[in-house]
Amino acid sequence: MKIAVIPGDGIGPEVIQQALGVLNKISEVYGISFEFTETLMGGNAYDETGTPLPEETVKTCLASDSVLLGAVGGPKWDDLSRELRPEAGLLGLRKALGVFTNLRPAILFPQLIDASSIKAEVLGNDLDLMVVRELTGGIYFGKKGKEKIDSGYHSYDVMSYTSEEIKRVARVAFQVAGQRNKKLTMVDKSNVLESSRLWREEVEKISLEFPEIELKYLYVDNAAMQLIRNPRQFDVILTGNMFGDILSDAAAMLTGSLGMLPSASINGTGPGLYEPIHGSAPDIAGKDMANPIATIMSCSMMLKYAFQKDDAAKSIEDAVKSVLEEGYRTGDIAQKDKMVVSCSEMGGRIIEKIK
Ligand code: IPM
Ligand code: MG
Repeated sequence: MKIAVIPGDGIGPEVIQQALGVLNKISEVYGISFEFTETLMGGNAYDETGTPLPEETVKTCLASDSVLLGAVGGPKWDDLSRELRPEAGLLGLRKALGVFTNLRPAILFPQLIDASSIKAEVLGNDLDLMVVRELTGGIYFGKKGKEKIDSGYHSYDVMSYTSEEIKRVARVAFQVAGQRNKKLTMVDKSNVLESSRLWREEVEKISLEFPEIELKYLYVDNAAMQLIRNPRQFDVILTGNMFGDILSDAAAMLTGSLGMLPSASINGTGPGLYEPIHGSAPDIAGKDMANPIATIMSCSMMLKYAFQKDDAAKSIEDAVKSVLEEGYRTGDIAQKDKMVVSCSEMGGRIIEKIK
């Protein structure tokens, strides 16, 4: 299996190092061989090549079976123009790979129930929801501009969607719901936005192909509130690019920390992009303090979705659970009476448990 590896910026390289350790152990135990090719993207790529997404990187990723990414961004590159920022590299890569579906599972490990800022009785002990976020369209990729006008500037970002862009991701969401609890909530702002109205129209049509799935609609403001008020009502949430960005961070906090959530960006044919949903955390970069679990769990998603190795995927999940069970925590999920360990120790302990 050819894997393009993009360590990126900030804590990216630290968490990727642990994830690679996990994949090497999987390779030993399950006899799957991986060929890793490291490549540049984000701020580090800008520093070395003058662009956040070198052509070479796109080529390497397209020629791989799968792409593993740490994180990009940092204050060092904040003053660059939008097209040169590290984030532009990430958006460009998502677009180049055409990974229009972003799966963001929010699963609460029972061991971490007290690490969440939400009360235990609201969370229950089996919280498990999936955000399906459209990833290559919407306001992130619509027409943008900034023009001088008399009183200052006029700037805009257009939120646009075509029927096709909606239908292809909606189908995946219905399929995902079919493999879970068969409940799908479509989140939009169709009381205000024209593009959201098209989402509803198209999703309504697709729902006829999936009569076994119970479909509900929520406005995004209400969905944000419901996620905090009663998260257990959700199974699969389907939403557009920007709403998905926002709601997935909120969902992450239900599980205790942004440092726990993996993601898979896929299109069903070409290489997928597997990355934690957290950012580059420049404040703790290089200090061996980051939580590697989101990136390690992203490897588990890769094994499952890219390579259909469900047993290997599950062994990673089990290893994470058992290390948490023993009471080891990185700083972001630390609770009283627990042992706070470094990024590398957390990684090492998980690797040891893989069988
Ligand atoms: C995410 C991140 C990215 C996004 C940024 C880094 C461009 O927040 O993956 O959720 O907005 O998609
Ligand atoms: Mg985000």
